[in-house]
Amino acid sequence: MKRIKFDEQFFEIDPNETVLQSLLRNNMQVPYGCKAGVCQSCLMRCLDEIPVPSSSQIGLSALQQKENYFLACVCMPENDMTLALPNKEQVWLEAKVVEKEFVSDNVMILTIQSKDPFAFFAGQFVNLRNRAGTIRSYSIANTPNAAHTLVFHIRILPNGQFSRWAASELDIGMTLSFSHAQGNCHYLEGKSEQSLLLIGSGTGLAPLYGIIEDALENHHHTGEIHLFHGSRDATGLYFETKLDELSQHHANFHYTPCLSGVNPDKHRYTQGRVNQIALEKFTKLDGWRVYLCGQSDMVLQSKRMAYLQGAALKEIFADAFLS
Ligand SMILES: Cc1cc2nc3c(=O)[nH]c(=O)nc-3n(C[C@H](O)[C@H](O)[C@H](O)COP(=O)(O)OP(=O)(O)OC[C@H]3O[C@@H](n4cnc5c(N)ncnc54)[C@H](O)[C@@H]3O)c2cc1C
Ligand code: FES
Repeated sequence: MKRIKFDEQFFEIDPNETVLQSLLRNNMQVPYGCKAGVCQSCLMRCLDEIPVPSSSQIGLSALQQKENYFLACVCMPENDMTLALPNKEQVWLEAKVVEKEFVSDNVMILTIQSKDPFAFFAGQFVNLRNRAGTIRSYSIANTPNAAHTLVFHIRILPNGQFSRWAASELDIGMTLSFSHAQGNCHYLEGKSEQSLLLIGSGTGLAPLYGIIEDALENHHHTGEIHLFHGSRDATGLYFETKLDELSQHHANFHYTPCLSGVNPDKHRYTQGRVNQIALEKFTKLDGWRVYLCGQSDMVLQSKRMAYLQGAALKEIFADAFLS
């Protein structure tokens, strides 16, 4: 059994346990967010002169890798390790809540305004942090603008630490901390005639909506853009009207709302799982760019299918909302 040393104390790592799980089990106060190797909130450094598992360094810069930084939530130690939090804390920026709208029983659109100019691509994600120190990742659903606003679609989970707090306690005018934008799930310039396939479940629509807006409004994308948005019931298709309007204004934008549960209108909604519907409709994806966002099972399965159906790996962009 491997041991880790942190804050002058030793802890054992259970089989199949990550460094983060062991620290949390032992009531250590360390930052974390997605617990899935995405948001980098759990960045730590190994002080020993032994390499850390390379799988825990995916997404870190070459310098961070060389300096033995790693992500605690995906690190299963191969040796005993002496750990420290990074010298440089994540940089947190400040924003004010300017709008909060409930668009369904459990989806809230939150708009914040950064105090300072803020660079991002629509579809990337930021980490939001509340006063209690809870950090969660959310995708940016709008395009950069002069007012420096960022829009998020937040699914409110019954026991969700962050989402419940945001729904019930976060008010207009309050401030919130957020990180720099991360991730490569965004529109790429230079191939405006390429066909785009976007598949999202639930609030996985957020980054896709930002990408579509960016493609149509800022880059005048001329290729066909096919969006498939899926939910269990019709209330989860919370942007139906907006997306219908968008398809009326742009002949190359096509929107397919999909329901996996009760379907009140078979002419209006396609019945089934969103990724199966999309990938059965478009079976040859050579030359396409594919964006996948939402529930992790759906995203991982669709990534494999899109690749097997001809999409190049470098043309598949995915954000799994792992929990
Ligand atoms: C890159 C990235 C981008 C993301 N973008 C968005 C976004 O745009 N919109 C959005 O709503 N979320 C997004 N998420 C998910 C988000 O970061 C949080 O994980 C989510 O909001 C739950 O946080 P919470 O604190 O409310 O719930 P937690 O307190 O973390 O969890 C509460 C309970 O709900 C369960 N749970 C957590 N997530 C889910 C889920 N998806 N389905 C069912 N049960 C769950 C947990 O297991 C736990 O039991 C993103 C995640 C990542 C990694
Ligand atoms: S908590 Fe480890 S990368 Fe998000």
